[in-house]
Amino acid sequence: MQPVAMARPLPDMPRISWPAGLAAPATETDAALDRAAAILRSGGLVAVPTETVYGLAADALDPDAVASIFRAKGRPASNPVIVHVADAAMARGLAADWPAAAEAITARLWPGPVTVVVPRAATIPPAVTAGGATVALRCPGDRLFRRLIEKTARPLAAPSANRSEALSPTTAHHVLEGLGTRIDLILDGGPCGCGIESTVVDCTTSPPRILRPGPVSHAEVENAIGGPVERPGAERSAAGPARSPGMAARHYAPRTPLELAAGSGRVGELVAAGRRVGWLTMRGDDAEVRTMAGARDLVIVPMPPDPAGFARSLYATLHALDKRQLDVIVVDPPPDTDAWRAVRDRLARATAAG
Ligand code: TXA
Ligand code: MG
Repeated sequence: MQPVAMARPLPDMPRISWPAGLAAPATETDAALDRAAAILRSGGLVAVPTETVYGLAADALDPDAVASIFRAKGRPASNPVIVHVADAAMARGLAADWPAAAEAITARLWPGPVTVVVPRAATIPPAVTAGGATVALRCPGDRLFRRLIEKTARPLAAPSANRSEALSPTTAHHVLEGLGTRIDLILDGGPCGCGIESTVVDCTTSPPRILRPGPVSHAEVENAIGGPVERPGAERSAAGPARSPGMAARHYAPRTPLELAAGSGRVGELVAAGRRVGWLTMRGDDAEVRTMAGARDLVIVPMPPDPAGFARSLYATLHALDKRQLDVIVVDPPPDTDAWRAVRDRLARATAAG
């Protein structure tokens, strides 16, 4: 018999909360943050809730700790990670230059779900930036994460806490299911409020450019800057390497194939062909949905009809449907408007051929 390697234990998942109106976290929460900070200072990995998705944090200034993020995720070394900071002053210390656009965005929209890409300071290890000359910086809206950064007294590198190319986690249980024994601790702060990843803005170009649409809209970024901002995808047809390497077409994808189709026709066709189908629909309880409701092997999931609500439940719904052994997930295409840009981007990536 082959000797069985001792598996690392499953990570602990302490509940953390910082009730609104309280100046300090509860004692148990503070103790959990102390433990998390100790793990991070010794080079370990801690999953942390943010207002967007759960992040997998490590000391951004420790190259070995950063390397272990890439190992745990199975992430290609060519995909740089976001560095999280407690405030804009900490961010400026990690930048070789501080463009006016970065100043405007961080002054008006931080803390919050928007990341700025700026020239990197020499203190940032190359593993963080995939060897590039820029670094992505974000100050999370979640007070607990900022508090953890303060306790650790380090900037924290944190990509989404999932295996590379899988769906981002929006609950502590998603992290446990995806990364299991690969990490040291999961701070469980409940479900994430936004549910999709931050808006990423490249502040090194003129005009600045949105690399990844997210909870902060194009209009909000333009208002903050007081000038034009290029929309995402503007560079996609251009030759040469992608500006944001993580923006490979297939990303954020469930295991079950996903397609976009309007109306119940496609769903009916699949069901009639004996396929097991999940249907994410914003039609509520209309006649077409009612007609389909009795079909065998069809799971109908009513989705919130507003972009923020839809985004908040999208990944959690896909995580849940991935466990149902379905053949295909059909999603009502959201309207082609700015308000839906980020959701449409994630759906397009989830349907891209692997
Ligand atoms: O909401 C979020 O941003 C979450 C939470 C945990 O903060 N993080 C997240 O990280 O989504 P990740 O690694 O899954 O996505 C980071 C994105 C990728 O598309 C990556 O290519 C891009 O940011 N990125 C990171 N550094 C960059 C850089 N220097 N230049 C351009 N893009 C960069
Ligand atoms: Mg990710």
